[in-house]
Amino acid sequence: MRIYKAKDYKDLSRKAANIISAQVILKPNSVLGLATGSSPIGTYAQLIEWYNKGDLDFKDIKTVNLDEYRGLGIESNQSYVYFMHHNFFNSINIKACNINIPNGLNPDAKAECERYDEVIKSLGGIDMQLLGIGRNGHIGFNEPGSDFEKNTHCVDLTQSTIEANKRFFNSIDEVPKQAYTMGIKSIMQARKILLIASGDDKADAIYNSFFGPVTPQVPASVLQLHQDVILVADDKALAKVPKELLERYL
Ligand code: F6R
Repeated sequence: MRIYKAKDYKDLSRKAANIISAQVILKPNSVLGLATGSSPIGTYAQLIEWYNKGDLDFKDIKTVNLDEYRGLGIESNQSYVYFMHHNFFNSINIKACNINIPNGLNPDAKAECERYDEVIKSLGGIDMQLLGIGRNGHIGFNEPGSDFEKNTHCVDLTQSTIEANKRFFNSIDEVPKQAYTMGIKSIMQARKILLIASGDDKADAIYNSFFGPVTPQVPASVLQLHQDVILVADDKALAKVPKELLERYL
């Protein structure tokens, strides 16, 4: 693992966008695994800025998103498909046929999960997977206790994730209770992983995930077993990692 320490969210976003840019430039037909949430918004904004300057080209890039709420589609402004178009895809030259997101509107969970695994396989796997991290160490919608051996599956969201996500909805009752998510196994099969974390509410998750025991109780801790992980985190998110320990990874 390598850690890139950022001053703040803006600096983190620029550093993460630099790493993704390098991937896009070195392999213009890369398969990028993407995430939603508040963490990557600045990264996407930075990539858009460089695209507008003519420094990046997404015409052969393919994407696979981590997850989607079950029951929501693009017409819902809380869906992840809406988020991705609004925050990234509408502003770059990616081809619509190269965008892949679990279809929250497919009522057949088994069929949707199998379809999505097949999509990832047919693309030849993920070159670089961007991840945020939940306060409880979740990645994608893989909550504490998740089986490390799962590919795409349908999950019941925990109360803490429903609570954390309610800020995006009019009321807690509107927050979907299930989601389709790539599993830990799908994430671990990505050739490179880039995890971004900002703010003091992520400090425990970062410490436990990267410096604690590898356990399903902290899903992101599995990343310690991946051979090519980059963590870009700001000072606040790294606050619980002792300085001597941190310096070994910088
Ligand atoms: C998003 C996702 C989630 C988020 C995590 C952190 O696609 O899979 O695991 O990355 O909940 O969310 P933020 O960035 O909003 O703190």
